[in-house]
Amino acid sequence: MDYLQIQGPTKLSGTVTISGAKNAALPLITLTLLAHNQLKMSNTPEVADIKTLLKLLGNLGATYTLDNHLLTIDTSTVNHTMANYDIVKTMRASILVLGPLLARFGHCEVSLPGGCAIGQRPIDLHLKAMEAMGATITIHAGYVHAVAPEGLKGAHIIFDKITVTGTANVVMAAALAHGKTVLVNCAKEPEVVQLCEILRDSGIDISGIGTSELTIIGTGGKTIDMVDFEVIPDRIEAGTYLCAGAITGSTITLDKVRADHLDAVTAKLEQMGCKIDTTDTTMTIHPATKLKHVELVTQEYPAFPTDMQAQFLALATLAEGASIIEERLFENRFMHVSELQRLGADIKLNGHTATVFGGTPLFGADVMATDLRASSALVLAAMAAEGTTNVHRIYHLDRGYENLEQKLQALGAKIERLKE
Ligand code: EPZ
Repeated sequence: MDYLQIQGPTKLSGTVTISGAKNAALPLITLTLLAHNQLKMSNTPEVADIKTLLKLLGNLGATYTLDNHLLTIDTSTVNHTMANYDIVKTMRASILVLGPLLARFGHCEVSLPGGCAIGQRPIDLHLKAMEAMGATITIHAGYVHAVAPEGLKGAHIIFDKITVTGTANVVMAAALAHGKTVLVNCAKEPEVVQLCEILRDSGIDISGIGTSELTIIGTGGKTIDMVDFEVIPDRIEAGTYLCAGAITGSTITLDKVRADHLDAVTAKLEQMGCKIDTTDTTMTIHPATKLKHVELVTQEYPAFPTDMQAQFLALATLAEGASIIEERLFENRFMHVSELQRLGADIKLNGHTATVFGGTPLFGADVMATDLRASSALVLAAMAAEGTTNVHRIYHLDRGYENLEQKLQALGAKIERLKE
């Protein structure tokens, strides 16, 4: 297995180009299951999760090439509807094939994704919505069996909780349903917005885009003529690099980024004493002279994102005073805490709230990545710690960060990928 070796403390400088958003590309790839044409997705991030999902679609019969971030894909040859365990277990977002397969073929068998390190990750809201649209759902031997022989029918659905992939799954199912679907309490993440925009541009009557209520008039089973498009920038990758500037006390610029997708993150960095200048496509962070402690609560978009919690917890270890960080979305998303404590951080955990007593120096050590965003938090802390840090199990990182060490090396970080 690979690990990253990082020498700290380090200063960064220069510009980093942000990749396409993993969490936009994943549902957009499954959306192609609704299309009868070949299409091109540019700015597709070449990260492990994307390759895993493409492998799954290939197993179903789709053909594709991914070359220099341009995905050319054709699902008209799909002739299977089983998403099997060996792929789904490695990438739970595979559940995003459920809605499109069910809508297009009238049946599908998708392995239950199971939980992951950060939480149990149920899919009950996805399944309840499909049943409301007329599907019969049974769970047997670890698989979701969904059937809707006459196709799905429009329904009025209120999500009990805001779910990002749940909203995406049901929007895709509704696009081919018979009649009108009204979805209430939808996720408003930019990734969901882009999915809705591509559906609209591909001829689907969808309104309420960007709001918590979506109305979709389905095609009654007819597949769509899907447009070519460019995947939006990855706001979480961008936020991670902003934190890299903040934690190393460096001025760096991010290119190909949508600053308007990061308002809550920018606000917190500015509260901590950083300054951020933006243009239409760039963000430049000027570090705080002295980082101030912060209070943050993770919530659904546009509030502070849970996917930035670990990175800010790492940053808070350098901020004077006590920072209070509350994780409201996932039940086990503080595994980076014990690893940061190995670097010398003074953190107290109490249920879903971490109190970070910042200002004590960090010292390099061996640490272990536990999940995607926790891994990036360890890399950030390692760049501020005195000495050598080895971050193990970085296959977690490779799931969602494209060329992380190359991008950081180009900014001046002393980081290299080694073999255990
Ligand atoms: C998406 O996961 C993202 N993944 C996650 O990013 C992100 O952390 C999460 O949204 C929240 O923003 C992708 O987009 C591929 P949810 P998702 O359904 O859709 C509960 C990363 O690091 N819930 O919005 O699985 C659930 O337990 C990943 O890139 C139900 O109870 O998250 C959680 O408490 C990690 N029943 C809350 O809703 C359901 O049927 C939000 O989950 C579905 C969800």
